[in-house]
Amino acid sequence: MLSKVFSPFPILITERLILRQLLVDDEQEIFTLRSDSEINKYLDRQVSSTIEDARNFINQVNENITKNGSLYWGITLSDTNILVGTICLFSFSDENGNCEMGYELLTNFQGQGIMKEAVQKVMKYAFNTIKVKKIEAFLHRDNQSSINLLERLSFRNSDKSGAVSPELLCYRLTNSGNDLK
Ligand SMILES: CC(C)(COP(=O)(O)OP(=O)(O)OC[C@H]1O[C@@H](n2cnc3c(N)ncnc32)[C@H](O)[C@@H]1OP(=O)(O)O)[C@@H](O)C(=O)NCCC(=O)NCCS
Repeated sequence: MLSKVFSPFPILITERLILRQLLVDDEQEIFTLRSDSEINKYLDRQVSSTIEDARNFINQVNENITKNGSLYWGITLSDTNILVGTICLFSFSDENGNCEMGYELLTNFQGQGIMKEAVQKVMKYAFNTIKVKKIEAFLHRDNQSSINLLERLSFRNSDKSGAVSPELLCYRLTNSGNDLK
């Protein structure tokens, strides 16, 4: 059985980042993330057309957290407090002991190792605290930045790749059994 109790919300801290719950005040950054054509190039999701869409999205995400259904962090820079991206864990399965992970960064903040730092922290949280055995990420086969990120963190292409659609890869990381340091 997974340990899914997301209240109080788990704030995660790394060398450069604070991962915190989204606020309605983040609507402008969430709107940019969910409407920018470059960021959404390989993502099959409903884009935000208006600020209201972004606000509704934030409210929906936070409601899912109160139901312990998923976790969604805003990634902020600790020195400036600026929200630069998001990272989430969702589709938890008690039966299979796994969950999915998604992430995105504003274009100006890509190429600095920010997402690697965020994913490393979230991986530890998923394995050590929620006690998942596997984390999976579905991504478009042409999404090279995302492939690079996952491979740097030891995720590997799995047998689920191509199962949902020919373009969609499934990368997976399995916990070795010990808590990650
Ligand atoms: C996927 C995504 C988050 C990757 O972002 P990213 O900035 O490339 O990833 P990282 O934070 O790991 O940064 C790695 C890059 O920073 C560089 N870098 C600079 N300083 C660094 C540091 N201190 N530490 C580590 N890497 C550093 C690395 O060399 C690397 O550059 P390279 O890819 O040119 O070799 C980003 O492309 C994105 O948001 N895409 C749109 C949304 C998306 O597709 N999400 C994935 C859904 S599955």
